[in-house]
Amino acid sequence: MDKFIIEGGKRLEGRVRISGSKNAALPVLVSSLLADGWSTYRNIPDLADIRTIKRLLANHGAQMEGQGETLRINGGNISNCEAPYDLVRTMRASVLVLGPLVARTGKARVSLPGGCAIGARPINLHLKALEAMGAEIDLREGYVEAKAKRLKGARIYFDISTVGGTENILMAAALAKGTTRLENAAKEPEVVNLADTLEAMGAKIKGAGTDVITIEGVEGLRPCEVSVIPDRIEAGTFLIAAAVTGGDVVLEGCDTNHLDALILKLRETGITVEPVDGGLRVRGAPEIRSADVKTLPYPGFPTDLQAQIMALLAVARGSSVVTETIFENRFMHVAELRRLGADIVVDGHNAVVKGVKRLKGAPVMATDLRASASLVVAGLVAEGKTTLSRVYHIDRGYQTIEKKLTALGASIKRVRA
Ligand code: EPU
Repeated sequence: MDKFIIEGGKRLEGRVRISGSKNAALPVLVSSLLADGWSTYRNIPDLADIRTIKRLLANHGAQMEGQGETLRINGGNISNCEAPYDLVRTMRASVLVLGPLVARTGKARVSLPGGCAIGARPINLHLKALEAMGAEIDLREGYVEAKAKRLKGARIYFDISTVGGTENILMAAALAKGTTRLENAAKEPEVVNLADTLEAMGAKIKGAGTDVITIEGVEGLRPCEVSVIPDRIEAGTFLIAAAVTGGDVVLEGCDTNHLDALILKLRETGITVEPVDGGLRVRGAPEIRSADVKTLPYPGFPTDLQAQIMALLAVARGSSVVTETIFENRFMHVAELRRLGADIVVDGHNAVVKGVKRLKGAPVMATDLRASASLVVAGLVAEGKTTLSRVYHIDRGYQTIEKKLTALGASIKRVRA
């Protein structure tokens, strides 16, 4: 298992290009199952999770070819409706094939994802919505088995705003008979990217980006040519990394509108963030101020940046309260940040962060994707050497993060095990 060795204390400076969004690319690539013929997808990041979704699509019979950031997929010839445990276990987003498989073939057998490092993460709302659309759902031997001659449009209210649930049902509803109305739908930019993709395929969708989405089912969809949005979480991680090192960095190719909640929070801590030609410039402050942070569905502060901002608040002046409202167990990074000298106490959904003057390097371990990003951020500002093990977590969602950081002046090396 690879490790990162980080020598902290280097100021980040320069320009960095933000890659395509992992969480947008996954559903967009899955939507290839909905149409016969070759679709073209641009701005696809080169990540472990993208390789997993490609394996899953190939398992269903999809053909693909591609170079660099452009991928062509013909997902229409579905030869196998089962998403096996081994792939779903590696990546929970694999459950996104459920809706498209039922809509397209009338049946699907998809392994139930288990809990993971950040929470139980059930898929009950995906299943309830498919049932409302007429699917028969059985849970057998750890698999969800879904059947429906043709899904029917329905009115669906999501008890919790769910990104994956909204995406799954958007894809299913695109080919259902009649109109589906999703209430309390997720408003995340990744959902909008998927809706735009489906529209490019001929789907009839209104309201994506709001909490009520209406989908008028059509008889068939056609291939499309689309681009995936920039990764707002990668962008946010670089903004925080630059800020914590007192750096001066321009992010190229990110969508500033998607980062509003983080930008306002960083300004509250004294960091300067401003749009410049071709990107977004972030400059550190002589002293970082404390700030309270509460994660919420979009446009609120993203849970996927909670761990990283906590690393910044760990060296702020004063105390901050970080409240996690999306996942029940997303504080695994706290124990590791404490190994670097952070003063953080967790009480239920709150973490009280008392800023310290400096963090000191130590061996730490990544427990999930965003926790590892937070440890990289902390390692960049800690005095001395931080060794981060289980880097495979970070490889799931950050394209060559060590190369991008090195180009900005950080001292970070990958040690191959
Ligand atoms: N939930 C339910 N039942 C459901 C679905 C969700 O109770 O049927 C709960 C979840 O347990 C959670 C909350 O609802 O407490 C929100 O979960 P959501 O369904 O929105 O999350 P997701 O679709 O599984 C995506 C991202 C996550 C990101 C969340 C929240 C992808 C592939 N994953 O997950 O990203 O944290 O939305 O924004 O898009 C990451 O990239 O590190 C990551 C975990």
